[in-house]
Amino acid sequence: MFDLSGRTALVTGAGQNAGAGIARALAAQGAAVAVNDLVAERAEATAGEITATGGTAVPAPFDVTDLDGVREGVAQARTRLGRHLDILVHNAGIAADFGQGQFSSLDPSRWRAPVEINLFGAMNCVSAVLDDMCQAGWGRIVQISSGSARTGSAHGLSLYGAAKSGVEGFIRHISQEAAPLGVTANTLALGLQTNAAGDSTADIAAHIPTRRLGTPEDVGAAVVYLASPEASWMTGQTLNLNGGSVTY
Ligand SMILES: NC(=O)c1ccc[n+]([C@@H]2O[C@H](COP(=O)([O-])OP(=O)(O)OC[C@H]3O[C@@H](n4cnc5c(N)ncnc54)[C@H](O)[C@@H]3O)[C@@H](O)[C@H]2O)c1
Repeated sequence: MFDLSGRTALVTGAGQNAGAGIARALAAQGAAVAVNDLVAERAEATAGEITATGGTAVPAPFDVTDLDGVREGVAQARTRLGRHLDILVHNAGIAADFGQGQFSSLDPSRWRAPVEINLFGAMNCVSAVLDDMCQAGWGRIVQISSGSARTGSAHGLSLYGAAKSGVEGFIRHISQEAAPLGVTANTLALGLQTNAAGDSTADIAAHIPTRRLGTPEDVGAAVVYLASPEASWMTGQTLNLNGGSVTY
């Protein structure tokens, strides 16, 4: 079950944390993984970790907000892996407004960055891989989102939440367009991960039904399912992965 041998995957923002966990998990199931990150050293580190443990991975450093860069990076990954990309996991994303204040205090010059990476980044990556997947009659697109897409908060995440809501809608529509061609598209909406909590981990975990935050392994395991041959009837969905902290 969940055998990805012979498949190739691109994981964006995979130089650390959730993205690295996703890349490791896909490689462990047999996929050859193109490890993207804006920071080349991070992409190389994750790819090196995978190859050191017997998996297949190549670094694929590029900026997901730059469409030409994405197209070039995907073309290079395809050449290096010797096959078109079967699986896209768009994980790269940042809460660029978090910690910068609430919406009313944000200068308009800050509005675009969270949307560029979280929404346009997804459009750029999907556009670079979708035709190949459709022509091959098989593909898996997994988008990483956040509970902030559906649940409002006063923590200075309005732009991030807007961009993640937008990308969830985008993926729903892609799923309808691509389903007849054997390509699925789903979103995983994550709750708070261990890397984001800092010194407050224990306090936050106490309010999560499972009493812990999410880990890269939790995310990787869920992505493996969505990327697998067995998930061919699962498409157009936004799935919460949050330790039970939100149940709708
Ligand atoms: N950490 C959390 O608690 C949490 C909660 C909910 C959702 N998420 C989502 O999960 C995903 C991963 O979060 P994380 O905390 O592991 O992220 P992170 O910030 O730890 O890692 C993101 C990686 O993406 C890379 N990156 C940034 N901009 C890029 C770009 N333009 N092009 C390519 N790579 C780029 C960074 O260099 C970094 O290595 C994001 O989409 C995030 O919105 C995270």
